[in-house]
Amino acid sequence: MAALHMPWPGLVLLGVLGILQTQAEAQVSLQPNFLQDKFLGRWFTSGLASNSSWLREKKENLYMCKSVVAPMADGGLNFTNTFLRKNQCDTRTLLLRPAGPPGHYSYTSPHSGSAHAVWVVDTDYEDYALLYTSGTTALGQDTHMAFLYSRTQTPRAEVKEKFTTFAEAQGFTEDTIVFLPQIDKCLE
Ligand SMILES: *[C@@H]1O[C@H](CO)[C@@H](O)[C@H](O)[C@H]1NC(C)=O
Ligand SMILES: *[C@@H]1O[C@H](CO)[C@@H](O)[C@H](O)[C@H]1NC(C)=O
Repeated sequence: MAALHMPWPGLVLLGVLGILQTQAEAQVSLQPNFLQDKFLGRWFTSGLASNSSWLREKKENLYMCKSVVAPMADGGLNFTNTFLRKNQCDTRTLLLRPAGPPGHYSYTSPHSGSAHAVWVVDTDYEDYALLYTSGTTALGQDTHMAFLYSRTQTPRAEVKEKFTTFAEAQGFTEDTIVFLPQIDKCLE
């Protein structure tokens, strides 16, 4: 079974989906007065929504992953993600560059060299963060994703509800919203 488990939750998905370029600005707002310093540190990817057919096929096999967020000299963020892959803990780093107002970033794929937009839509810094991304896949499909990050591995029911409400407002249907199960590995 373990070999079938897909190890790409959270922003790691941006690399896997082969995002090519940023599309027109999405209809999302940013966390007002976003304080990047308070957003740093450890988060768990506990929910995601995506309208890619890839997620629909793989969603049963996705697990929670750990992200450690550190500041970059250019004002961006270093997201170091740790997840279980082939029975080992694997680590992948995504570098988000600042893209204008605080809380708005772009991710450039090291493979295609192209950018993807990332927004921190809502966070209380101590409990949860809702992120939204938008771009185009290598196959030319527009795709958007929403992520729930939580400081603990067991997000409160209110936080999960908040994520569902947010994702539905972005047009994600119920079958494209998943809460990722905890595992006993790689989250330390
Ligand atoms: C990102 O953070 C990781 C973990 O601390 C570190 O190993 C890596 O060098 C950092 N990458 C950059 C480009 O700063
Ligand atoms: C995903 O959503 C975007 C934005 O709403 C849309 O343009 C795209 O066609 C959708 N893709 C799929 C595979 O449904």
